[in-house]
Amino acid sequence: MLNGKRVLLIVAGGIAAFKALELIRRLRERGCSVRCVLTEAGARFVTPLSLQALSEDRVYSDMFSLTDESEMGHIQLSRDADLLVVAPATANVLARMAAGMADDLATTVLLATDKPVLAAPAMNVRMWTHAATVANVETLRRRGVHFIGPNDGAMACNEHGPGRMSEPEEIVAAIEALLDPGTVSEQARVLAGRRAVVTSGPTREAIDPVRYISNHSSGKQGHAIAAALARLGADVTLVSGPVAVADPPGVRVVHVESADQMLAACLAAGRIDVAVCAAAVADWKAATPANSKIKKKAGAAPPALALAANPDILAALSTPGPKRPALVIGFAAETENVVANALDKRKRKGCDWILANDVSPATGTFGGERNTVHLVSDAGVEDWPTMAKEEVAQRLAERVGRHLGVVRPAQAAE
Ligand code: PMT
Repeated sequence: MLNGKRVLLIVAGGIAAFKALELIRRLRERGCSVRCVLTEAGARFVTPLSLQALSEDRVYSDMFSLTDESEMGHIQLSRDADLLVVAPATANVLARMAAGMADDLATTVLLATDKPVLAAPAMNVRMWTHAATVANVETLRRRGVHFIGPNDGAMACNEHGPGRMSEPEEIVAAIEALLDPGTVSEQARVLAGRRAVVTSGPTREAIDPVRYISNHSSGKQGHAIAAALARLGADVTLVSGPVAVADPPGVRVVHVESADQMLAACLAAGRIDVAVCAAAVADWKAATPANSKIKKKAGAAPPALALAANPDILAALSTPGPKRPALVIGFAAETENVVANALDKRKRKGCDWILANDVSPATGTFGGERNTVHLVSDAGVEDWPTMAKEEVAQRLAERVGRHLGVVRPAQAAE
């Protein structure tokens, strides 16, 4: 999809610089050429040699190198690119960009460029939430700099919160969305004109205003599916429970908390061609959530928690009728008899395909980067190898594209 595109990747000095290596690999797999500018601090985290080996191009660092400036001046570096990507974009580099400084090659190129700029911030959570960084990011956004992330999560500094650089696949998706989706070949956009709803993440069911029932879903799998469908040209509504992962680019996102809200948002999306229910929806909610915090009373027994069933979104979307999407896909999160339970679940819920995955803690499926799925359909059971969640998503989106190739779009049916 990025065939022939050229990215100038500016690698600044943060622990997330190692992800720049994977980013180069992913971009090059997609036919995009990558040229790197490495800051002095960046070179403390990754070597020019690694960047050079992966990009198969020289790495530029020195502002005052006579050879660099005669062979490839800083203006030329920008001219030769379709997009400048700063990854990781540290608090320091963002501050220098916002201030319009040009005190090294990276900031000079950024100041001199007339090309779009995408920044993938990465820093300690307090640096990210510091008023100075917030103001710098606002300034840069106003000037048209695009941002991807940062994500929430555990950080190298043993802290937790927003500040983790987006994953390479997320950055690639943002790059693809920026580099003019119109240039993507129609053949690659097999889902153009198709409408999709994807559910993702957990739901939260209130017990009282401060407590809730939920689960460990991170939204990584569902969000990756939404992004993959959008890359193939689908008009995607992502209905997401509370997650720390960033909204995927090119996707309409509806943020919800409870299963009731998730169902309402799915139905509000109107006529769709394909529904993918990847959310880990709580099966039960508190029968009567309290309006104020339930008090702990000395000596009293713990209060009983009466539960009520939540609506089943997948079953509701699978209900036969004129409004049923042409293709309804569910997931089965199992801890035992994974495929057998999924076969049964597919029948009970009435969906077309179900992707069975083992969510036993040892697998790391919940919240992890990889997944092992079994695709259950009328055609039988297909065991997919363990893959990155983005790869599962891409493969699924391609299957959806092939399947819907023979089905009328929802708009036409209206
Ligand atoms: O979010 P990640 O950390 O990336 O993890 C991904 C995942 C493990 C959450 C995902 O791959 C997955 O398995 N999602 C489905 C989780 C789940 O709730 O499975 P289930 O077997 O309980 O439900 C079966 C299907 O019914 C699912 O499609 C679910 O979305 C749907 N469902 C369940 C209950 C309900 N009330 N409404 C529903 O729509």
